[in-house]
Amino acid sequence: MIPLCDLKRQYAALKNEIDAAMLRVAGDARYILGPNVKSLEAEVSAFCQCKQGVGVASGTDAIHLALRALDIGPGDEVITTPFTFVATTEAIGMVGATPVFADIDPQTYNLDPDAVAAAVTPRTRAILPVHLYGQPCDMERLTKLAERTGLALVEDCAQSIGATYRGRPTGSFGAAGCLSFFPSKNLGGMGDGGMVVSNNDELVARVEVLRRHGGRMKYHHESLGLNSRLDELQAAILRVKLPHLPQWERNRRRNAYYYNALLADIEEITCPSELTDRGPVVPLDEDNIGTDRIVEAVYHQYTIEVERRDEVARSLQEHGIGNAVYYPVPLHLQEVHASLGYKRGDMPHAERAADRCLSLPMFPELTQQEIEQVVAALRRAVTAKVKAA
Ligand SMILES: Cc1ncc(COP(=O)(O)O)c(C=O)c1O
Repeated sequence: MIPLCDLKRQYAALKNEIDAAMLRVAGDARYILGPNVKSLEAEVSAFCQCKQGVGVASGTDAIHLALRALDIGPGDEVITTPFTFVATTEAIGMVGATPVFADIDPQTYNLDPDAVAAAVTPRTRAILPVHLYGQPCDMERLTKLAERTGLALVEDCAQSIGATYRGRPTGSFGAAGCLSFFPSKNLGGMGDGGMVVSNNDELVARVEVLRRHGGRMKYHHESLGLNSRLDELQAAILRVKLPHLPQWERNRRRNAYYYNALLADIEEITCPSELTDRGPVVPLDEDNIGTDRIVEAVYHQYTIEVERRDEVARSLQEHGIGNAVYYPVPLHLQEVHASLGYKRGDMPHAERAADRCLSLPMFPELTQQEIEQVVAALRRAVTAKVKAA
């Protein structure tokens, strides 16, 4: 069996350090907003080239609290992608605002800036791009659009910590970057966790207050907040992992490029591309992506498009190859958003991607031999299916 993601290998490699860090927290007994949370906030915000970070209970809360800190609420619209995890729009709903969907670019799966521009109304307050699968959005155009229209930019970086656009990390472009430390994320804890990173002191101060019941001082509450603190134990674990993240992300890229090279001749499969000044390019190795690259993706997922995806997925499963569909139903067609009035056909690129996307095993410790096994099984599944057709 080759799993989609194998967290046991990462733990095995760092077991001694992680166990020691957890025991230190147990012994120190400063379990809430202790020294590890403070240090991790400094370390992660430096990693993201942001001035400050605020540890919160999850990636969902990071988005929720960033929007709250910007005073976005009932009557306001937030433009986002329909091709993301539901947490993105949940957070918009949690502040009482309305999500407005703009379609994706079919090659990068990320928000199409032209579609965003067309969705702006007098009620729009923010643009919420999601760097899906660890691929940075077109930040040049989104930043310009936000500046021109006076809208806040809140980045959902749950899948993209460490990914860069023209050398600058995702999360550092807008008012706030929202990170998730869910266990399977590129930097994952052993439970839930998240962080808001920002260069805006005022926003950071507001998130700090909101995450602890709306107060700066114990038992003095200035606004309606909530309990959303990053756990000290998670922070200690994440601090052990953070120094390894750059190497893990290099491994993810190496794995993605190896998949691309092995899959290049299979017509029925579309491999993920990265933005360059030549347009989107499917990278086969670090050289072929070249010096005119715009983004450095971090492949939280390695996601292909394939004809008759569900049959292929079943066949891979039968042959012991983990796989998943992120995401089978775009958010504009989800029951939870029925009241928004969208229908099939409104977001054709997101709908097509949802019908065809398939994520294959991807994690830093995945070996070349395992990738070859995945590709052999995929090749068999695609060819068998073509014969049957
Ligand atoms: C794109 C995206 N946004 C937000 C989230 C929410 O993060 P969390 O699970 O930490 O709440 C996730 C992860 O699950 C995600 O993938």
